[in-house]
Amino acid sequence: MVVTPPADLLEAAREAQAKAYVPYSHFPVGAAVRLADGGIVQGCNVENASYGLSICAERNAAFAAVTAGATSFSEVLVVGETTGPIAPCGACRQVLLEFTDPAAPIWLVGRDGTLRTSLGELLPHAFSPRDLGPQG
Ligand code: THU
Repeated sequence: MVVTPPADLLEAAREAQAKAYVPYSHFPVGAAVRLADGGIVQGCNVENASYGLSICAERNAAFAAVTAGATSFSEVLVVGETTGPIAPCGACRQVLLEFTDPAAPIWLVGRDGTLRTSLGELLPHAFSPRDLGPQG
């Protein structure tokens, strides 16, 4: 099914993608999260000569949003130069779940395709803040 992502979220993610620091993978990724108040926060992937220290666009967007004072995301968009929809890594799925309802729209954009999915689909049977009980 052909789906069209929200234009403002896509534009924000593409703007971030253009700033990706990717001298090793040459694979720029952009992410944008929409906050409860409607604002948008961006993130790009930032790599490091010590490869394992590199961080994905999605986690940078999530952490930037928290730094801006927001801990609830109503939707998320990720864009990368994959043929089909880009697939967020497992670490990013888990981090996004911390701040995003499992049913909220997650837009995954590649060169020839967009998938509208959710964290419930991307990370089934996940460990989430609810599992920690009252102290969580
Ligand atoms: N990457 C992301 O930023 N997000 C994804 O969803 C997939 C992978 C980054 C990590 C690394 O900088 C590069 O893409 C290649 O894996």
